[in-house]
Amino acid sequence: MPTRKKFVAGNWKMNTTLAEAKALAAAVAKGVGADARVTVAVCPPFPWLTAAGEAVRGSAVALGAQDVAFEKKGAFTGEVSPAMLLDAGCTYAIVGHSERRHVLGESDAAINQKVHTALEEGLHVILCMGETLAERERGLQERVFQRQVFAACAGLTDEQFARLVIAYEPVWAIGTGKVATPEQAQEAHRFVRGKLRLLYGDKIADATPILYGGSVTADNAAGLLHQPDVDGALVGGASLKADSFLAIVKAAQG
Ligand code: PGA
Repeated sequence: MPTRKKFVAGNWKMNTTLAEAKALAAAVAKGVGADARVTVAVCPPFPWLTAAGEAVRGSAVALGAQDVAFEKKGAFTGEVSPAMLLDAGCTYAIVGHSERRHVLGESDAAINQKVHTALEEGLHVILCMGETLAERERGLQERVFQRQVFAACAGLTDEQFARLVIAYEPVWAIGTGKVATPEQAQEAHRFVRGKLRLLYGDKIADATPILYGGSVTADNAAGLLHQPDVDGALVGGASLKADSFLAIVKAAQG
């Protein structure tokens, strides 16, 4: 059995003041310290990246952005390039979060372009995918997984795959308190890994971490993280308090 290191990332979304972001990042850094058994990342809003990066410096906590531009530079008002994120201290960028797909209308093609641009420039990518409630109710989730993974990963090299993390986030579970059961998560993750195996081979299928996201809390994390194909968690609401986020990190360590 391949061993994949567990990964816990906090997606702060459009929350925190500068002072709160600094304090939260510092508290996470203090709690994690130099312990690198689990990969831990925090993803603050763009304007707080540098300050949060300073707060986690010297700890094992990595910095991530919540999104990234689809082009490398130029006249793209409001966009933030991969090079800027790297300069700000980021290792990771989240791409294709459901709020960007469904609220801001990002297409599979745009997400594929962002994945390519970010990886070409040297970032690691946390690629989000997952079905809506309507799609699950109609039994379409596996078709959606296949389409989203295939579209987002089209054209990646093996070296680029080595910097890709997938996050399965059922839209009906995000911010709703309705977490997927460990069995539902495992079933989805196993399907996605199976597709990776079919499309890209054993090495990529076995090495790619697949995180679960959607109402993960300190109370439900352990059950999800013990599933064989669940390699970690992408945490929204529960990442805004250091105690609950660190409890999820602890569940991943245990
Ligand atoms: P949630 O968000 O943990 O608040 O459900 C998860 C996410 O959107 O990444």
